[in-house]
Order: sequence, then C-alpha cells, then structure tokens
Amino acid sequence: MKVIDLRSDTVTGPTKGMRSAMALAPVGDDVYGEDPTVNRLQGMMAELLGMEAGLFVASGTMANIVAVLTHTGRGDEMILGDRSHIFLYEGGAAAGLAGVHPHLLKNEPDGTIALAAIEGAIRADNVHFPRSRLLCLENTHNRCGGEILGLDYLTAACAIAHRHGLAVHLDGARLFNAAVAAGIVPSDLTQGVDSVMVCLSKGLGAPVGSVLCGSRPFIDEARRMRKVVGGGMRQAGIIAAAGIYALEQHIDRLAEDHENARRLASGIDTIPGLTCSQPDGPATNLVYFSVDCSAANVAAGDPPVDAIILSERLRARNVLASPLGPDLIRMVTHLDVTQAEIDVALFALRSAVHGT
Ligand SMILES: Cc1ncc(COP(=O)(O)O)c(C=O)c1O
Repeated sequence: MKVIDLRSDTVTGPTKGMRSAMALAPVGDDVYGEDPTVNRLQGMMAELLGMEAGLFVASGTMANIVAVLTHTGRGDEMILGDRSHIFLYEGGAAAGLAGVHPHLLKNEPDGTIALAAIEGAIRADNVHFPRSRLLCLENTHNRCGGEILGLDYLTAACAIAHRHGLAVHLDGARLFNAAVAAGIVPSDLTQGVDSVMVCLSKGLGAPVGSVLCGSRPFIDEARRMRKVVGGGMRQAGIIAAAGIYALEQHIDRLAEDHENARRLASGIDTIPGLTCSQPDGPATNLVYFSVDCSAANVAAGDPPVDAIILSERLRARNVLASPLGPDLIRMVTHLDVTQAEIDVALFALRSAVHGT
C-alpha cells in the first residue's frame, strides 16, 4: 500500500520525464563555469526572477549562508524574523560560519515583520554597536503557515532597508508557490531585493538544488563563497537538468497543491479536537493544525491524543505527518500526492483521532 507522505514537499521523487532529462543532460566542469546545463538553469532562474545572474547550489541552506557570507562581514548584524528558517533551522550557520550577529524581530502571523520594528532595529553609526548590514525576509513563510508576503509589504520593507544602507536577502524557498497563489509572475515579488534564493527540491519536485540570484557582481562574489563552503560541484548538469525540467513543467501545477491543501484543511476542521491554524485556510501548500490535548473535544470515553500520538497512529495507517511539538502538526501537499490521496489521509486522520 502506498504511503501518503505529507511531512514535507521535499519528499517528492523525480518523475520519469525528469529522470530522462537528467540522463541526457550535456555536462562540463561547473567550477570552471563550463557546465552548459548549469549555465542554462542559472540563466533561466535569473530571468524568471528579474535578476542579472544566478548561482546553482546544493540546497536552500547553502544558498542562504552563501548569501549571508556575500552580503556581510564578521560582527555585522542581520535583521530577521524569530520564526524564519534561517534563524530556526539552519544550524546557526550565519553565526557559526559568517560570524554575523542575528537581530531577531517578531514575525507576525502573516510572516511579515512590522515595518516600524525594522526601522527601529537599524543601528546608528556608533562604535558600540554592530553594523546593521542585512535584512532577511522569507516568502512564502514556512513557520507562518506558508503565508505570502505581498508586493506592497516587500516594497516598503526594502525601501526602509535601502534608505539605511542595508541589503535585503529573500529566502524564497517557495517563492513560486507565492507567485502562483497570488496570480503574479515571480519577478513581481523580487523587485526590491538584492538577492533571492529559490529551492528546486521543494514544490517544484527536483531531487536536489537551489538557485541564488542577484546582480552580476553579487553572484561573482557568491561564487567565491560557494567554493569556500565546499559547494563547488563539477558535472552538476546532471542534477541541474532536473531543475530545468521542474521550471518548464512544474510551476503552474503548484495550483493543484494549493487546492489540495485547502481541501485538507477544511477536512481537518471538521474533525473534533483538530483546528487548522490558518483561520482563512492555507494560502499555499502548507497546512498547520493544532491538536487539542484535553479530552473535551473528543468523543466521550476516547483517550486524549496529542500531536505525537496522533502522528504515530497516522504512520500505522500509512500517512506521514510532521509533529512540531505536543499540540501542532504540519502537513504539506506536493507533486506526489493526489486529491484522492488527500481524502484517504483525511479518513485516516479521522480514524486516528478516535482509534488506537
Ligand atoms: C523557507 C525555507 N528556507 C530554506 C530551507 C532550506 O532548504 P534545504 O532543506 O534545501 O537546505 C527550507 C527547507 O525546508 C525552507 O522551508
């Protein structure tokens, strides 16, 4: 029986068409800049994002740390949200590898950081203070429910940063989800930023890789930083080909994942004890829901379930989810999950709340 894996959109396998594109890819040594497939992918992504140049890297985490290393020097300060992926889930790379001082500001539930808070966090030029160098934003915002940062917000945040001489880096691991859901082109969401990274290995369905984009001089320097962190790859066209295939075939279909996420969330809301965390439903492909640990919401006589127990019960029913603590679960829709499988997952969820 097929396992319905809703832990993340990173779990997709390459499709048949993608595998054959990989097998046929012309390759060269990318550290010499001679891999035609990597060069093509970098050019395609830069064009889609309205940037001058792109750099293919192994992962989203590598793209973010290469961006931080390129924008900042040791002891500089970077402003970012307290729920951002860079802060929560990247092994402290910005502090550990770049020596950057993180200045955390509260992420609002919609993934934004209050504009006044950004302005207030920027340091005066004073020997006591670290230098404020970089503002990092995230779109869609993973831990804020896959919410989309809109164009007006991005423009205003970038204007504040630039007025004070800070660069802006956008963690756009799921930027294409944002663009498809908002019905705009991706370059609309990158207008004011100095660098942006997009993951090919999430909703776009490639097995590996991200592309960091920015100005030509920024990317020339980022290329050096990629080498420093050991990210110079050789015949990388074999994996870049999967990225090209994903850009050609898998952008528009993200709408299906968003539709499936809404279907999943509205089903979840009908199950006693479970409440979708996004009051208006998921904006993109991430579904977060709370599990009420008290017995009050489950049928009389049922033992209370928490997120961990519920996830274990789901696993026994061939459905995988990510518990993020005792009362929160994340499920993510993607290329390898059909609408019919969403209904199967909902059936499993309903029985797991009540069953053992
Ligand atoms: C918003 C965001 N940024 C960055 C990353 C890091 O990507 P990777 O897992 O490829 O290092 C992720 C991964 O889930 C993410 O959700």
